Amino acid sequence: MPDKVVVLSGSGLSAESGLPTFRGAAGLWREHSWMELASPEGWRKHPQLVLEFYNERRAKAWAAEPNAAHRAIAELEKHFDVAVITQNVDNLHERAGSTRVLHLHGELGFARGTGPGRKRYRIDGAPIELGQTCEEGTQLRPDIVWFGEETRHMEEAAGHVSAADKILVVGTSLSVYPAASLVEYARPRIEKILNSLEMDSVPRGFEFLPGQATVIVPRLTARWSGCRA
Ligand code: APR
Repeated sequence: MPDKVVVLSGSGLSAESGLPTFRGAAGLWREHSWMELASPEGWRKHPQLVLEFYNERRAKAWAAEPNAAHRAIAELEKHFDVAVITQNVDNLHERAGSTRVLHLHGELGFARGTGPGRKRYRIDGAPIELGQTCEEGTQLRPDIVWFGEETRHMEEAAGHVSAADKILVVGTSLSVYPAASLVEYARPRIEKILNSLEMDSVPRGFEFLPGQATVIVPRLTARWSGCRA
């Protein structure tokens, strides 16, 4: 069996594809209020504003292209059993060729109803308009996990991390829980790499490789794959 590699990614991975991060310079939450735009309360108060915000993000994500770091992660599947666990709501991992991607915080490419059935619909890059309803007759909303809502796939993700032989954490500030707690499931003696531009604190046992993901990640995956060619 090939060794198992787990990649935990955040918005910094898609930054070089032209998509904003959340807390960096010009980050989304520097320019906007997450309480207004990414919470059930904000949705109840002004759904039109929330729909416009995510329609714009969806259009940008669909116009963006995977970068060298996304592609290097997808290439790892040639040599390793890879699981990608992402906080990102874009589909750049999948478009780069990654075949196993868990979206902890939802996906821009889907809409869902707000009724008991929570019907989910694939919409790709299309906008959601006020008045568009699901088959239960409820207003459609972006299929995104907002603050105060339950993060998805946590049990499956923790299972992947605890079984990993190598871990790469890339482009995340590890400031949002429970996603950030996943690093604690890693076994002590495996290779653990963290790539970001800057980090307040590096989780124990991780080697911090500062720099742009499109430079650091392909170099790392080449080293990991090199001994398998
Ligand atoms: N290459 C590598 N890392 C980068 C790059 C880059 N080109 N650009 C930025 N980064 C790093 C930053 O240094 C920072 O550590 O990416 C990280 C981005 O952190 P945040 O803006 O906090 O984004 P993220 O960790 O993805 O946010 C987590 O918060 O708002 C919620 O649901 C949202 O999924 C999101 C979660």
